[in-house]
Amino acid sequence: MKKDQLLEQAYKSFENIPRESLGFFPTPLHRLNNISARCKAEVWIKRDDLTGPSIFGGNKTRKLEYLLGRAKKEGHDHVITYGATQSNHAMQTAIACRKVGLKAILYLVAVVPPGEGRPLGNLLLDRIMDAEIHIEPCPSGDASEAMEKARSAAAARIKELEKEGSSCYEIPPGGANDTGSLGYVQALMELCEQIRQEPGLSGFDHVYQATGTGGTLAGLLAGKELLQEDFELVPVDVGLVKPGFKEQAAALAGAALSLLGRKSSLDAGSFTIEESFTGPGYEMPSVESSSALKELALEEGILVGPVYTAKAFAALLGHLQGGKIKENSRVLFWHTGGASELFAEAQITGDNIIR
Ligand SMILES: Cc1ncc(COP(=O)(O)O)c(C=O)c1O
Repeated sequence: MKKDQLLEQAYKSFENIPRESLGFFPTPLHRLNNISARCKAEVWIKRDDLTGPSIFGGNKTRKLEYLLGRAKKEGHDHVITYGATQSNHAMQTAIACRKVGLKAILYLVAVVPPGEGRPLGNLLLDRIMDAEIHIEPCPSGDASEAMEKARSAAAARIKELEKEGSSCYEIPPGGANDTGSLGYVQALMELCEQIRQEPGLSGFDHVYQATGTGGTLAGLLAGKELLQEDFELVPVDVGLVKPGFKEQAAALAGAALSLLGRKSSLDAGSFTIEESFTGPGYEMPSVESSSALKELALEEGILVGPVYTAKAFAALLGHLQGGKIKENSRVLFWHTGGASELFAEAQITGDNIIR
């Protein structure tokens, strides 16, 4: 089947899926001229840092269009979600909820403990949005243990709200479920449409994106299958990948496709996660990520987040320098947002980005 027909069919399969309009789409797609010239490759960027609705956009706005679409359709009045204290997802949820008249409740794990006094970065934005915030300490450094506690506290809060006659829609960390992943199936459709309209651009050889909970990855995998796209997808671990992660992402992609009435033949063997650019761990910058952040800022005037998108861009630069990406290849960096992390605690922003 021709690409146009595949795209048309994909649009049709979204017809009955509830969606709330939150962002500004399509997000810009443009060439990074200075980096392309220096690296002898065609390096492009997809600006999902500019999704809106506020200036602090990012990948979660796309997922939330479907998640909040469902929450509204099912008649909920509250949304509960989870993340770290500097979670971009939690911040975007707090903002999106304001736009559609839902109340946001955030359960945040203090992987990096917030300092005394005025909150910083995304936590400050959550506070400006008057989200109901619950912080779960993480003294042992074991985020999964703290997250379990947050989940049981949230379950008790949901029951309490139900007793008061309210109804709560629960969104997993990162919005990583079948409904949320639809945002990135749609995003790939948007990209294909843009490629079609861009003179001289027929597609990309490699697409780099930061992978945390895996919802974005699942959506892109599902989109690739739906549209029969053959670019190499390079998901770059930001520090959350554990054994079984690939299987979960493949299953999530399959679940997103089944919401669209499609079957999936995807398996975990069909993609590889780049784990060499994670650095010391989740919510922590690495030497490579700080230097990639700085390079993109100095050469193109574009800001990434120090602990998510900078790692994906570091992998892209590392692969260009190491020859893994061949000269003249067409490479896309999918900027999924997170620049508001630059205003977070010093452990997150890193020491190497100011001289
Ligand atoms: C800025 C940014 N980029 C990428 C990701 C990774 O997305 P996902 O959780 O869908 O893997 C996240 C959040 O987790 C993020 O905040």
